[in-house]
Amino acid sequence: MKIMKYDMGSGELKNWLIQESSFDERYLGKCEAIFAQGNGYLGVRNALEEAYTGEVRNTFLTGTFNKASRGEVTELPNLPDMTGVTITIDGHQLNLSRGQLQEYSRTLNLKNGEVVRKISWVSPTGVGFKAEFKRIVSLAEEHTMACSIDFSVNQDVQVILETGVDGSVTNSGAQHFEEISRRIYGGRDMEYLSQTTESKVWIAQHGACSLDAPAAVLPVMGRRTLTNRYTIQAEAGKNVHFEKISVFHSSRDQKYADVKPEEIKEILKQDGMKVLRRGFIKGYEGLKQESTEKWKKYWEESDIQIQGDADFDQLAIRFALYHLNIMVKHDDNRVGIGAKALTGEGYKGHSFWDTEMFILPYFTFTRPETARTLLEYRYRNLYGAHLKAKEQGYEGAMYPWECAWVDDGEVTPLYMGADVVTGKITKCWTGIIEHHISADISYAVEQYYLVTGDQDYMNQYGYEIILDTALFWASRVEYNQEKDRYEILDVIGPDEYKEHVDNNAYTNYMAAYNMKQALKIMEELPKENPEVYKRLDEKLSFSQIKEKIENCIHKLYLPVPNEDGIIPQSDQFLSLKKLDLTKYKESKEVLTIYKDFNTEQLNQYMVSKQADTVMLLFLLDTLFDEETKKKNFVFYEDKTLHDSSLSKSTHAILANDFGFQDMAYDLYERALKIDLGPQMKSSDEGIHSASTGGIWESTVMGFGGVRMEGEHLRIAPKLPQKWNKLVFPLRFKGEPLKVEVEKDVALVENRGKNQVSLLIGKEFVNIPAGHKVQRTL
Ligand code: BGC
Repeated sequence: MKIMKYDMGSGELKNWLIQESSFDERYLGKCEAIFAQGNGYLGVRNALEEAYTGEVRNTFLTGTFNKASRGEVTELPNLPDMTGVTITIDGHQLNLSRGQLQEYSRTLNLKNGEVVRKISWVSPTGVGFKAEFKRIVSLAEEHTMACSIDFSVNQDVQVILETGVDGSVTNSGAQHFEEISRRIYGGRDMEYLSQTTESKVWIAQHGACSLDAPAAVLPVMGRRTLTNRYTIQAEAGKNVHFEKISVFHSSRDQKYADVKPEEIKEILKQDGMKVLRRGFIKGYEGLKQESTEKWKKYWEESDIQIQGDADFDQLAIRFALYHLNIMVKHDDNRVGIGAKALTGEGYKGHSFWDTEMFILPYFTFTRPETARTLLEYRYRNLYGAHLKAKEQGYEGAMYPWECAWVDDGEVTPLYMGADVVTGKITKCWTGIIEHHISADISYAVEQYYLVTGDQDYMNQYGYEIILDTALFWASRVEYNQEKDRYEILDVIGPDEYKEHVDNNAYTNYMAAYNMKQALKIMEELPKENPEVYKRLDEKLSFSQIKEKIENCIHKLYLPVPNEDGIIPQSDQFLSLKKLDLTKYKESKEVLTIYKDFNTEQLNQYMVSKQADTVMLLFLLDTLFDEETKKKNFVFYEDKTLHDSSLSKSTHAILANDFGFQDMAYDLYERALKIDLGPQMKSSDEGIHSASTGGIWESTVMGFGGVRMEGEHLRIAPKLPQKWNKLVFPLRFKGEPLKVEVEKDVALVENRGKNQVSLLIGKEFVNIPAGHKVQRTL
């Protein structure tokens, strides 16, 4: 059965709609996640109104992290649910798996973020029920979610709607809330207050419903639930319109940062009611209108257009841009981006290197204010980075592999998943030995600076991050007396199928780069910015950092290509056993290799989970000559299962660079399908945030050929066969640019106020403000 339909609609909605065209209770997770709605503050999974076994009903508010029990790490708690509506028609609860489903469609409109579901259903007793459900999470009013239901029945029957706040939901069984208080004011306005068990974050939820038909209303409170029950005598053929406005606040909201703990509860109650009443007056349509305006602005600034035989590609890039916009709280530097954004419980809302290496480039190149917020978050994470370095016996800033609230420090769980061989739970080493993230963050800081020229960020935060992480590396390296060199032993590189490896090329090169960045800063800063130099020197002691780096940098072992031209991914990799990977490479699912091997066994084979050395070739692209890069790409791709969603997009970019056009497009298509494709289970735990960033990267940095060459922006596009044109926006040094690429011409329009200099292909061009420059490629 074909469930997903992509190319729907025509006219101005062509390639803006994603539709689920039939209902199948086995695959609820797919559209719950990919149709998730939000605004960076509030994220709501698109669970259906009526309940089903296997559903995951998630609502998250950014930053509200809590530890459910002592043995667990902190996670984003799943808030009491406000999406559920129980609908009882003539005594039968609406359930599409029972009775007869005659029509079904659920559509996410990427243009305005609205999800609309249409059904026509006949109950087991033969009552026809037609309904249209609509839902938005407002982009204009971040605390507010709204839904509307229009329904009609084909006989005069009783219909009962029951909805409110359901606090019995959990994070897969872990309950995060206590101290619950509930109340219904004036028979309509519902209020549900709860507090997280350990972090003591208050959550206030308010809701109100309206109905255009006469109904008996009854408040109902069960254990951890609060609802209003509407009993309607529905008339055959007559439409009934129902609306529910839901409002969310938390004591972690930025605006309450300075409120005294004893006052917060009352303030949350008052603010919640205020926002609820405001929303109630506007109603569903009013709120949708406001939110649509915000979306309109976003798309005017951000849309990417592809012309050619490219309907799915066009839709998929918009899908990525939609999620990129709702996964981040653009103006709160205390929160990062979760690996599954706010769309599922996977990875517990934690931020990884995914943000800096895969998602941030989108923001750096198009929405620098958001990129800055995210990099300020990393500055605030320095607290945890110092803590981690100390705990592990190092100096400087050692970033946690997984980050949650700004001062939580390392939050990677210690155990996860079953070991298929021993039957025990597998130890998770990433939080202990996956260290490259410290260099990744510094790399991202530099890229941000090169693209935006934001000197203020560097002065306040950026230099310090680079210097502090460099100090970590200088303390992390180990001297090998026999070989008279420094090494980095016992790490996990990006390829997480290889644990406890020595001298992972990616880690060593990125660490060296990080230390070189620091040396450059220490050399230039005294001349360029003596004041900042003085402040940082007092804080970090430059002479100390310099001495430590200089002591190791020249002897840090950097793996070079062997006699076959292959850069060893680690000391161990090239002597590992070969394995026939056909079965896994051809599998439609990811991680199937774990069904046959445990991590210890995987360590012994030449198989990679994701781009590792290939990632290095992409980031530090001048380290090796073209021939070596190409050879290594082919060698490592062959051994890579792309079992992480972070892999295909990087490979697609390099394949395109190296002229493997068919391969590049094939990898690109597979990257687009990570969430959107026919695999019905792959997004159950939430969408893959890094993959959406990867989609932008492979479109704009890959086919669009956008890269930084040192300080220069370079645009050297190479479009796939099927595309005739690619149009995308960029921001360089604050100036907005519009880039239009066809097969052999590139046109760059400077829509800013100052002249911009950049490379089109190999040619250096100056584009005055308001001008366009066109070059043949
Ligand atoms: C990948 C990591 C990634 C993490 C979160 C893992 O499967 O191997 O590179 O950071 O997922 O997305």
